[in-house]
Amino acid sequence: MKIVKIVIMGLAMVVSIAVIGVTANTMGADKFALDGGGKGEIDFPHKLHQETLGDCKACHDVFPKELGVIKKMKTQKTLKRKQVMNDTCIACHKAYKAEGKKFGPIRCNECHKR
Ligand code: HEC
Ligand code: HEC
Ligand code: HEC
Repeated sequence: MKIVKIVIMGLAMVVSIAVIGVTANTMGADKFALDGGGKGEIDFPHKLHQETLGDCKACHDVFPKELGVIKKMKTQKTLKRKQVMNDTCIACHKAYKAEGKKFGPIRCNECHKR
């Protein structure tokens, strides 16, 4: 009986470690650079947004969880140029500002490097 218990406990541990591993992976990188065309790239704090917003939908209802996908969708014309910038990023930052909450950048050079 004892051995069965130990085996079960061992299996449970392996399973939970695997689950933790998968969860950590699917969160994506903490920060990365986004392509901003002629205005230069944007340093994007991904983890800060995940923690501040508490869910993924504000962005990932618009584009999937994949690095480089915004650029890819613009090439395929499933997203217009500056669409994510205006309708997702800046729209939310402005809404938070209007509500008197802590908000993100609204001016060009606060996001873009050029
Ligand atoms: C404020 C916007 C925003 C929110 C909210 C957000 N993400 Fe992302 N996420 C992005 C952007 C931008 C990219 C990169 C897209 C690109 O490179 O074109 C990305 C990419 C990713 C990737 C691929 C990155 C990598 O390192 O492989 C994963 C995985 C991901 N997100 C998971 C999540 C999860 C899980 C949540 C919710 C807990 C979440 N994201 C919330 C904006 C966001
Ligand atoms: C909150 C951050 C942010 C601010 C503020 C911002 N941008 Fe952007 N910009 C982005 C992101 C993210 C992209 C890439 C996604 C897209 O094209 O929608 C982008 C893309 C661009 C592009 C490239 C579009 C293309 O595909 O050719 C240009 C040009 C640009 N922005 C100019 C500006 C100008 C001018 C301003 C100020 C009026 C500005 N941006 C303000 C985040 C921002
Ligand atoms: C649904 C709301 C929402 C969306 C969508 C969103 N942001 Fe933000 N962003 C915030 C808030 C809120 C803050 C302020 C968080 C803080 O400082 O605690 C912020 C802060 C930032 C900052 C400043 C971080 C710092 O260190 O001061 C940058 C840069 C930024 N956002 C870029 C972007 C870009 C680029 C996108 C689009 C891909 C985006 N955000 C989409 C809500 C949003």
